[in-house]
Formats: sequence, C-alpha cells, structure tokens
Amino acid sequence: METLHVGLAERSYPIHIGSGLLNNVEILLPHIPHKRAVIVSNTTVAPLYLHGLSEKLGSNGVQVQSIILPDGEQYKNGDSLNIIYDALLSARSERSTPLIALGGGVIGDITGYAAATYLRGVPFIQIPTTLLSQVDSSVGGKTGINHPLGKNMIGAFYQPGMVLADTTTLNTLPDKELRAGIAEVIKYGLIRDLPFLEWLEANMEKLLARDTGALQYAIERSCRNKAEVVGADERESGERALLNLGHTFGHAIENGMGYGVWLHGEGVAAGTVMAADLSQRLEWLHSEDVLRVRRLFERAGLPVVGPRLGAEKYLQLMGLDKKVEDGKIRFILLKTLGNAVITSDVPQPLLEQTLEACSA
Ligand code: NAD
Ligand code: GLY
Repeated sequence: METLHVGLAERSYPIHIGSGLLNNVEILLPHIPHKRAVIVSNTTVAPLYLHGLSEKLGSNGVQVQSIILPDGEQYKNGDSLNIIYDALLSARSERSTPLIALGGGVIGDITGYAAATYLRGVPFIQIPTTLLSQVDSSVGGKTGINHPLGKNMIGAFYQPGMVLADTTTLNTLPDKELRAGIAEVIKYGLIRDLPFLEWLEANMEKLLARDTGALQYAIERSCRNKAEVVGADERESGERALLNLGHTFGHAIENGMGYGVWLHGEGVAAGTVMAADLSQRLEWLHSEDVLRVRRLFERAGLPVVGPRLGAEKYLQLMGLDKKVEDGKIRFILLKTLGNAVITSDVPQPLLEQTLEACSA
C-alpha cells in the first residue's frame, strides 16, 4: 500500500492506494468513532462490493446503513440527493456518523455534497471504485450534482477525511470505463508532468491490459499531481483551474448530448484534442504536438473528435462553464506539452475553426 497526503492544514487527509484494501477495514475504523456509518453506493457497485464491506465493518462492531442509488450520470441530480437526505433523516443519522461513498465519481460527488449539507456537514470518506475516481474525483473535495442547465453547477468544496483506493476493484470495471479514466490520467501529463506523459506513451498498452504495477504507478503519480495542485489552490483561485484541461469543451459535449450518453472521460478526451488544436491555432503548440496528443488518446481507445453540435450550440453550452468570468469563457490551453495556462484571450474565429475542425 502507498499512502499519499493532501496537505490542507486542519483539513489534510491521506490517500491510501493498493490492492485488497477493502479487506483492510482497520484503516476505516478510526473514522467511525461511534460505530455507525452510512455507505452510499449504486445498483451496479453495491452487488459487487457493498456486502463484503458491510460485513467486515459489522464484524468490527460497526452498525451500517446502506443507501443504494440508481446508476448513471443522469441520476447525478437533486432527486438522488433527496433519496440520501430522506434515508438519513428517517434513520435519524447523527452529525458524527460518516457517509462513505462506495463507487465511481458520480457516487463520490453526490455523497460528498450530501455530507457537506446534511446537518450542515458530516464526516465523509471516499472509496473510489473506477479508475477515473481513483485518479481524480475522489481527491480534492469537489462535490456536487448536475443541473439541466449545466454540469456540476450545484455543489460545495468539502474534503473527505480519507480516500481509500483499492486497485483490485478495477478488475470488474468495463473496458470503456477504464479508458474513460485514462483520459484524466493523460491530463496530468499534459498540464504539468511531461515525464509522466512520456511514461504513458511507453506504457499505454500495459494500462489497457490492466497490468497491476502499471495501474498502481499511474494512480499514484496522478494522485501525487492532484494532491500537489489541490494543496496549493484548494478553491480554484488559480492553478487548480488547469485540472480542467479539455473540460470546457467536454462538459459542453456531455450536456449537449444528454448526460450519460458520452462518458465524462470521453468528453474530456475529445475536449482535450480541441484544446490542443486551439493551442496550435494560437501558435503555441506545433502540429506534431497536437498529433502526439491525438495519437495517445486514440491508442487509449478514446474519441478524438466531438459530436457535431454546431458552433453556436457549443458556444452557448461553454458559456455555462463555472470558469466564465466577466461573461468571458476561460480556456485551459497548452503553451507546450506539460505546461498548461488559463486564458480568456481567444479570438472567436480561431475558436470557431477549432469547433469546425474537431467535430464530426
Ligand atoms: P461513474 O461514477 O458513472 O462510474 C462509471 C460506471 O462504472 C458506472 O456505471 C458505475 O456504476 C460503474 N462502476 C463503478 N465502479 C465499478 C467497478 N469497480 N466495477 C464495475 N463497475 C463499476 O463514472 P466515473 O467515470 O467514475 O466518474 C465520472 C463523474 O465524476 C462525473 O460525474 C464527473 O463530473 C465527476 N468528476 C468529478 C471530479 C471531482 O473533482 N469531483 C473530477 C472528475 C470527474
Ligand atoms: N477535476 C478538477 C478538479 O478537481 O479541480
């Protein structure tokens, strides 16, 4: 097991990464002081992992309440949140009782927001079970739900007390979901870690084949990058925005197609190629760099062009982005590979050329 730390003064917490950690509930017990815990999961993950976890906690004297949500991005909404509140209130769940998110990023984000708001805040533990959630969403305290008018528009910064990433849970993950997680892994290389990007270029096949060592390394290195960024800029007043490379375009794709049609990681992949294309039009990246980015996503089996929503629709949806400031869309673009910047200074014709060239 490798343990990393997110350094946020009194809100600091560990990220434990390793195989078989779900069998190791002793790590969880200090976070459950009153021997009561609520596990939030979904209809796909619960049959795989909830029973074992509840039983192990039970044999350590913990009383477990479980809440099972429907599975899917389309359920990352107020209705699911209310299912959690209803269950907690009906059981008179108390302020000291932690909520444990057992699932991917959707479960992590909703559960975190429920924890931030129920009784004005209860403890929260992340047990991410997808690659995407192990390398990104479980770390950093962004929690929330979607709104029909925009993705992740309702939420709170609320840090977990611990992240426990059991890499063996990835064995049951469908290939398409594994690939979606790889999109966020590639992101770290592109925005701030060129040696990691080179490692990914050399090891993509191993990751796709679920080589244990390669996955463990990629998760650790991704979490290390994320922890550094979050530790320096928890509330996204600067550097943290760089973690949104590809997301302005990607969220527009997700929302424009209807939540759940494109996976988040798929939107990020096509969106990142758009960001690279735009960076070339601004004469920052060379055409070989853009090809290199596109090639890596292609090798990961991810989409490299977006759907043809039309420039007007893309612009309207991108205008709903959380990063919009003073009415201007702010883009995360690449000065060079391994070096991202945030800018709102993008000539409209270049943006429209990118949207035209990178959608089909
Ligand atoms: P997800 O939570 O929908 O999980 C993907 C699918 O895999 C689901 O069907 C899920 O039930 C299933 N699944 C989960 N674990 C499994 C396992 N071990 N075996 C088999 N199936 C399993 O999607 P995701 O990609 O994990 O997360 C995407 C979400 O995360 C999006 O809503 C996105 O906005 C959010 N996100 C949040 C942050 C953040 O910082 N909070 C960062 C990135 C993404
Ligand atoms: N996934 C973007 C962030 O955590 O800031």
